[in-house]
Amino acid sequence: MNFRNFIASLAVLGSLAAPAFADDELYTKQFGGKPGMAKITHEMMVGVLADPRIKDFFAKTDIERLEFLLAEQFCELVGGPCKYSGRDMKTVHRGEKINTAHFNFLAEHLQVAMENNGVPTWAQNKLIAKLAPMHRDVTEPR
Ligand code: HEM
Repeated sequence: MNFRNFIASLAVLGSLAAPAFADDELYTKQFGGKPGMAKITHEMMVGVLADPRIKDFFAKTDIERLEFLLAEQFCELVGGPCKYSGRDMKTVHRGEKINTAHFNFLAEHLQVAMENNGVPTWAQNKLIAKLAPMHRDVTEPR
């Protein structure tokens, strides 16, 4: 590799690194960091568990653990300093018979929780955009 190419690669690496820094700001500033994300996932689950359309799915679930894992997962998805330690989405939701409507109801509760915690729409959309492709692993065709 000659010098010019070397500098060009540094520029590429630099531009890859830059958004990671900006994304950490997304987590800390827009989602309120660890306490903010814990509050959002808790309020989301309060909404889910009060929703007759989907609450029965969670009848046997350890909610405290689920909230912890969701906060960790969402933190990682918005570029925060976390590493999701739970099981993969396909394994967890397999056999639950979750459909697109259920998926959207849950997403609704997340959106309400983000809204109530002052997360701006553009930042809400960043998380939603990361979750949307998980639809195929979470739901089952009917
Ligand atoms: C993008 C959407 C979703 C994400 C990111 C998500 C994420 C998660 C995570 C991180 C866990 C814990 C994993 C673990 O225990 O290791 C979990 C468990 C669970 N999820 Fe989801 N989920 C989503 C959608 C849904 C929907 C729509 C339903 C049903 C309406 C649902 C029902 C459940 C249930 C019942 C469990 C607990 C399973 C158990 O107790 O073993 N999830 N989910």
